Amino acid sequence: MKPLHPVYFQDEKLRLIDQRLLPGEERHLAYEDPAEVAKAITDMVVRGAPAIGIAAAFGVALAAREASRLPVPLRAAHLASAARMLKAARPTAVNLAWAVDRMLRALEPRLEEPDLHRAALLEAEAIFHEDVQACQAIGRHGAALIPDGATVLTHCNAGALATGGYGTALGVIRGAVEAGKKVRVFADETRPYLQGARLTTWELARDGIDVTLLCDNMAGHLMQRGEITCAVVGADRIARNGDTANKIGTYTVALLCREHGLPFYVAAPLSTIDLAMESGDRIPIEERSSDEVTSIGGQRFAPVGVKARHPAFDVTPARLIAGIVTPRGVARPPFEQSLPALFL
Ligand code: MRU
Repeated sequence: MKPLHPVYFQDEKLRLIDQRLLPGEERHLAYEDPAEVAKAITDMVVRGAPAIGIAAAFGVALAAREASRLPVPLRAAHLASAARMLKAARPTAVNLAWAVDRMLRALEPRLEEPDLHRAALLEAEAIFHEDVQACQAIGRHGAALIPDGATVLTHCNAGALATGGYGTALGVIRGAVEAGKKVRVFADETRPYLQGARLTTWELARDGIDVTLLCDNMAGHLMQRGEITCAVVGADRIARNGDTANKIGTYTVALLCREHGLPFYVAAPLSTIDLAMESGDRIPIEERSSDEVTSIGGQRFAPVGVKARHPAFDVTPARLIAGIVTPRGVARPPFEQSLPALFL
């Protein structure tokens, strides 16, 4: 598999692959200002739950560089204000708040040190490297769930582009391929932002993995015809009972799997599991601009003035999920027991 890292730190700057331009152009943007990093997260330059967490961690590191030039008594407030801004960039993926809080915890005892910035960078780098390792472990555990010759449906992009590298749902697929299995992937286009059509197809084809693009309304037909083996998707937040928020349309895929007797799997690192949230009904669901629904690539196709909704995520109830693939193994129902056990 060819290495692909959408977020990295080089020459004192945070670098992001501008995912809005893929697959047409691979442009790497540079950031030195935490406010600009927050805006890049909101604007989807970087997206995918683990990747926005990593970007926000480096955003805190950039804030720490600014803070280290301030008198010691002002540093904590400077970091707290950057942390608030970064956490507010997108509401659904818990990885964002998780990464920012981890950075603050690491920096709190070091606020008086002259090399505060170096300590912050080390912690952000650790979050990045741990995520890549977690995805590779997800791949190893998930590979066992994928039969040789399988056709796997996936929704959105839960790949290298959505993580530090390697991916979660696509990590499972990569793991199966690396284990020597023949695997074919059906990628839902994922309206309105087209993460499946633009990103999943691009990164799988780049690794030579057999991928076929579907419109979002085709999976039911193909399941009915026996052309799909199972579905594997990523997650933005998994509640304690297993209810899972992921890209809008994921719930529909899970319902189709239930109707057709196919296993529906979720793959995620531990940073996506929110044990403090008892069930999915309280997960905040981001509502994005309706312009993203009435236009594609800046080209409007709906009548001017038409009303449109854009909930960016939905919640799949735990009862529809056959297993949650994590770096520590596959959690099975009842998730109230299996998820907390992963943290012991
Ligand atoms: O709006 P996005 O593109 O950030 O949504 C991404 C998803 O829903 C992914 O499936 C999820 O973040 C898991 S990424 C490993």
